Amino acid sequence: MHKTRMVQRISLVPVEERLRAIAEAGYNTFLLKTKDVFLDMLTDSGVNAMSDNQFAGMVNADDAYAGSMTFYEFAEAVEDVLGYKYVMNAHQGRAAEHLLTKVFAKAGDAIPTNYHFTTTKAHIELAGATCLEIYYDDALKTESSNLFKGNMDPDKLRKVIEKYGKAKVAFVRMEATTNLIGGQPFSMSNLRQIRQICDKHHLLLVLDGSLVCENAYLIRQREKGYANKTVAAIVREICSLADIYYMSGRKNTSVRGGMIATNNKALFDKIRPWLPVYEGFYTYGGMSMREIGAMTVGIREMVDPAVAGCSVEQIKYFVGRLIETGIPVVTPPGGLACHLDAMKFLPRVPQSQYPAGSLAAALYISSGIRSMERGSVSMDRDREGKEVMADIELTRIALPRRVYSISHIEYAVDRINWLYKHRDVVKGLKFVFEPPVLRFFDGRLKPIDDWGRNLTKAFKGEIGTY
Ligand SMILES: Cc1ncc(COP(=O)(O)O)c(C=O)c1O
Repeated sequence: MHKTRMVQRISLVPVEERLRAIAEAGYNTFLLKTKDVFLDMLTDSGVNAMSDNQFAGMVNADDAYAGSMTFYEFAEAVEDVLGYKYVMNAHQGRAAEHLLTKVFAKAGDAIPTNYHFTTTKAHIELAGATCLEIYYDDALKTESSNLFKGNMDPDKLRKVIEKYGKAKVAFVRMEATTNLIGGQPFSMSNLRQIRQICDKHHLLLVLDGSLVCENAYLIRQREKGYANKTVAAIVREICSLADIYYMSGRKNTSVRGGMIATNNKALFDKIRPWLPVYEGFYTYGGMSMREIGAMTVGIREMVDPAVAGCSVEQIKYFVGRLIETGIPVVTPPGGLACHLDAMKFLPRVPQSQYPAGSLAAALYISSGIRSMERGSVSMDRDREGKEVMADIELTRIALPRRVYSISHIEYAVDRINWLYKHRDVVKGLKFVFEPPVLRFFDGRLKPIDDWGRNLTKAFKGEIGTY
């Protein structure tokens, strides 16, 4: 339910240039330059298409350092849409995580979550706490018919509380449309069960709502009793169950920013003093006022089913087209990206040689499409310096909201099929430079046996230059 009114030129560079670019980037798609990227499907973060009204919101924003009316309009939109009375901005989602872990987590604490996100885990561990993932056993099965793989297992949560004692559980974290296991939602009934356990033990329930609208859209499609509710009502219901809500505004609100919101004034007052120390004054919190202007509009627009469902429906189409030719993908389709199961796609590449990273690099060489490694490269070493293998090795092909069309997806499907036929050419990677934290952002790797060159040769022989 949108049309294109502004466009950006993109170009596809020749395959030898793509080989040069990925080698220069250390086989890490984060380090590619956009001039070398054809379809940028790295992420859905900060790269969604904004609406005309969001641009208008930017122009109309009040730039005052303190007391900006744009902030008060934003706070009103948050209360209308999410139902929270108290809100502060932060420059992005991880800044909200920084504040929350600084205030609520201490060394030795445990933080149970339905699944970690990379930056969340880094902040939890930097606070000296432990991130515990307590999903149902089948959440990590990439091929599945479980419609709610993002659910938290209540029995395991009870055991964690028993083991650590409730004083040591800093908070319980639920993530909407769980990113690292393939954008999988939780159900409302599961969230209610977790809420009841938190109530019983007086524990805080923190909701990462970066992708709350896709989660609500999927609840509407998949959970009994929700088919006739609006996405807006489902989002409100989800939010009513959390003590503290935070989000990366780079996703659902299609801007670049973040926020923390709550109805509990005492909790809010614990966080608020730290805002000017780490982010900025109370009425901008590290964000540009213009982004807050666009976010105010984005908050109201994001619950429109045409916005909440736009990437969900494209992902369903994309995954369906790949299933037709037997490409191993995460099912059911989620709310963030199409995820290739790299261990099944490249069965000869051992996990210690990073199959998801190899597949992301190989996809770039074969298509100019930039995807993201979500496997063991995305795991940092443990406190003893040992490598930690990921539970699953996924190559994530994200669909930023309202950016790409079905024909772009068809191009991706075509090239993925070509690559699948030539998968034996692709081998593993090894690190040549490894940063100490969030290594996936800046790490550099080398292809074993120079397989990138062999893949380029195969491509030139069959497809040609482009
Ligand atoms: C679920 C989730 N939480 C938190 C973050 C961190 O947000 P940001 O990238 O805005 O710092 C992300 C980013 O992708 C995310 O997907």
